[in-house]
Amino acid sequence: MNVRFSSINAIKADFSDIYASDDPRDYFKVLGKLNYVIPQLAAPVLLQLAERLIEIKGRPITILDVGCSYGLLSATARLGLSISQLCARYEAEPIQALDPQRLASFDAKYFASWPKRPDIRFIGLDCSPQAISYALTVGLIEKGLVIDLETNAPDGNARSLISQADLIISTGAVGYISEKTFSKLLQAFPAGKSAWVASFVLRMFDYAKIAKTLHEHGLETERLNDVTFVQRRFQDRSELCSAIDLIKSRGLDPSGKEDEGFYHAELFLSRPTNEVRKASLSRIVSVDCDNAAEQLLEIASNEFHRDLH
Ligand SMILES: C[S@@+](CC[C@H](N)C(=O)[O-])C[C@H]1O[C@@H](n2cnc3c(N)ncnc32)[C@H](O)[C@@H]1O
Repeated sequence: MNVRFSSINAIKADFSDIYASDDPRDYFKVLGKLNYVIPQLAAPVLLQLAERLIEIKGRPITILDVGCSYGLLSATARLGLSISQLCARYEAEPIQALDPQRLASFDAKYFASWPKRPDIRFIGLDCSPQAISYALTVGLIEKGLVIDLETNAPDGNARSLISQADLIISTGAVGYISEKTFSKLLQAFPAGKSAWVASFVLRMFDYAKIAKTLHEHGLETERLNDVTFVQRRFQDRSELCSAIDLIKSRGLDPSGKEDEGFYHAELFLSRPTNEVRKASLSRIVSVDCDNAAEQLLEIASNEFHRDLH
């Protein structure tokens, strides 16, 4: 990992254990308590980008979800499930009592029972074999790739899967992944072909190096102005203070955002220049801030609150 990213990431609580469980119960228990909401807020953006790509390509599209974990983005975007619904499911006593294999077989039926869009296919990439195995077993992703591109090169099979992507997206992953991962992803495409790249990035991370790497591969990056996306609540005062210091050191103002107790992410979209010229990011993506605030309130009202100040 990029040294600067790893030192910034170090201020965040360490959740490595919950990313490497056999099923997502610990993930929802721990991140649910912190009101982790970014996949749900990213879902409408993903759907707008997907619609645009389906129209341009005239066919179903493939999304590569980098750092996909247990497939939460697919569950929220493609099935329309909310994080509150999923937290409630995994907290329920009968679900708690199941062994991981039994849970996966129940989950496969549960997810199959929701209407699924036939025009959006998901490939999940994550360094956690457990998370990819679960997401594949329950059908939240069609293909899975267990790889850490920060430290490894993709083999032929991985390159072939990556190059099927029309849209590469990530929520909560930049920081764990840097320009190294994006460079290897884009190198997997044959000459003249590429994917759009949409990244939801915490404001404490500088996206410039990644944007530069994407530019070297012919993609122009835009940031969606005047909108931020809540990622989750700070775990404690130490996380809050460290994040605010980092935000200020980047010349950004935490007022009304991080200083209210939440990590905020920005949306970056990288596309071929001719696509950017046809329609800017703000013309192809709109965000209903009132709806997002309502969703956040619903999630937060189900959980306990910590006094961070
Ligand atoms: C905060 S979680 C985000 C998961 C998912 N995108 C979401 O929003 O629910 C970060 C994920 O990145 C994965 N991860 C960490 N380092 C990685 C790397 N170098 N390559 C791929 N995945 C990585 C972790 O295993 C974890 O599943």
